Amino acid sequence: MTESIQNSVQGIRSKINGLSAAEALKVLASEFSGTSVFSTSFSSEDQVITEFILSNQLPIEIFTLDTGRMFAETYSTWTRTLEKYSGRITAYYPEAQALQSFIEEKGPNSFYESVENRKACCHIRKVEPLQRALKGKKLWVTGIRAEHSPNRHDMQAIEWDGTNGVFKFHPILDWTTEQVKQYIMRNDIPYNPLHDKGFVSIGCAPCTRAIRPGEDFRAGRWWWEDASKKECGLHVHEKSEIKDKV
Ligand code: ADX
Ligand code: SF4
Repeated sequence: MTESIQNSVQGIRSKINGLSAAEALKVLASEFSGTSVFSTSFSSEDQVITEFILSNQLPIEIFTLDTGRMFAETYSTWTRTLEKYSGRITAYYPEAQALQSFIEEKGPNSFYESVENRKACCHIRKVEPLQRALKGKKLWVTGIRAEHSPNRHDMQAIEWDGTNGVFKFHPILDWTTEQVKQYIMRNDIPYNPLHDKGFVSIGCAPCTRAIRPGEDFRAGRWWWEDASKKECGLHVHEKSEIKDKV
């Protein structure tokens, strides 16, 4: 990270220091008006942030990466969100030719066969569409929470994402699972019904299972893989970024 980016990160942090998640989002929405985006997977965390944005009409674009392999319940959460709020959620899709060639060569469920195939699938269905969604943007808002994984524990609410060339903001990084649940209930926010069936971190249907009490937060994601490899490439740069923290 260059010195000028370090200074910018510090400058942004000082602007939101001591503010609540919703207040900080308001400040940064106006600071980055027209160049900020929020990515939603319709998780409870993301639904909280969607509520902040749409009920306050903040000028932050909302997008989802529709992998084509999401749960039916995720699509119904998306529909109920559109019914509750007036506002737009843009969907980005995998590049058709890349997906077709990959499926023809490897088959529809090759992600179970090797980490390499799994990462290739995540790249086509999520990472490349993400790059398109972030093009020309300066601030990327996410629903990441520190409790999600040891890697995320070390993160800060404002970071520089050198891979995508954007600042990242995780407004509810420090919230607990209980706080998220309470906020959802109190504000009558639509949420993914899979959360009531033991699903905690929810991604694509073939790559997500429910977890048992006491299991790790992300144990239900790519459960057949070694825990150290369990990132899909959306947020993978954060590990090295920790060293650069200012
Ligand atoms: S992942 O890296 O394992 O897939 P995770 O499910 O923990 O990510 O979600 C963390 C954040 O990444 C979400 O709060 C959201 O901002 C973003 N995200 C994850 N999946 C998607 C998706 N399909 N579409 C848009 N944003 C997503
Ligand atoms: Fe493909 Fe599974 Fe990654 Fe979804 S989570 S993009 S289905 S490998």
